[in-house]
Amino acid sequence: TWKISSFIEQQITEIRERVGKRRVICGLSGGVDSSVTAALLYQSIGSQLTCIFVDNGLLRKGEREQVEYEFSEHFKTDLHVVDAADRFLDALAGVSEPQAKRKAIGKTFIDVFKDEARQIDDAHFLAQGTLYPDVIESGGNPDGPSATIKYHHNVGGLPAELGFELIEPLRMLFKDEVRRMGQELGLPDGLIWRHPFPGPGLAVRCLGEITKARLDTLREADAVFTEELHETGTYRKVQQAFAVLLPLQTVGVMGDARTYEDVIALRSVDTDNFMTADWSKLPYDLLQRVSTKIINSVRGVNRVVYDISSKPPSTIEWE
Ligand code: XMP
Repeated sequence: TWKISSFIEQQITEIRERVGKRRVICGLSGGVDSSVTAALLYQSIGSQLTCIFVDNGLLRKGEREQVEYEFSEHFKTDLHVVDAADRFLDALAGVSEPQAKRKAIGKTFIDVFKDEARQIDDAHFLAQGTLYPDVIESGGNPDGPSATIKYHHNVGGLPAELGFELIEPLRMLFKDEVRRMGQELGLPDGLIWRHPFPGPGLAVRCLGEITKARLDTLREADAVFTEELHETGTYRKVQQAFAVLLPLQTVGVMGDARTYEDVIALRSVDTDNFMTADWSKLPYDLLQRVSTKIINSVRGVNRVVYDISSKPPSTIEWE
């Protein structure tokens, strides 16, 4: 039978042999794939691992702090957190078309990552959390380095021009195996079961123009929703749930004053593979509490709506 612990042992031996005394860089995204990759590398080569985490200002609430805790306190890796929120905001200024946002973010990410990686002068390898489905999807051969790089798609996809030799220890694995591996390596449940999050982050959930203030509004509303899902034991029953900030204002009333403020849409889906998805039939009382909490606690929001569309024809994300 397939034992995850012996797979880990085997990977550790192989990584040690291949790496020798050289240095490995691993890009962390906050997601499970890059986290498991980093944890495995840390168990294999300890202080020869340098992790880079780019704070692009488009992260969920608490995400950066969790990465800092896990990969600096718990696993004591040489963690470089790059404060790049302003560079991303500059690149996104005046951009509201979804694909243009993705392009701007992808390009900025590569620039920022390159700048940081360049300063680690003895680095030889780049570790990426490429999974088996990624290898297949990009037309690659699971025994060789991934052929095509979906550079804008996630933190794993960095261009070959960086000049590193790739280490992709998860390239034969499916997501559930990666999660089991993460548990075995001692990563916390909160990280292992965190819903997937797109590389362009909150930018594609902040419809229209991106500003720091709008991102803060969205981040707070998203945190309220997520917290309620956790507290009611619902978070792990749905595959992806998040808030979206719409690019329009609607009329409301507070006391005897008229308000004209933002709308938050809630999205939650049930899905096996993210190719098709059904909207989650969340309990009305849960939706009611989330709505009230968001309107009471997130400044500038006076309306909450729930997305009841399935994929197809809708997509999971709104952009
Ligand atoms: P859609 O919206 O296409 O999403 O139904 C399917 C899954 O893919 C994620 N997604 C992305 N992930 N970069 C990513 O890394 C992207 O640009 C991107 N767009 C969508 C989405 O969150 C969902 O899990």
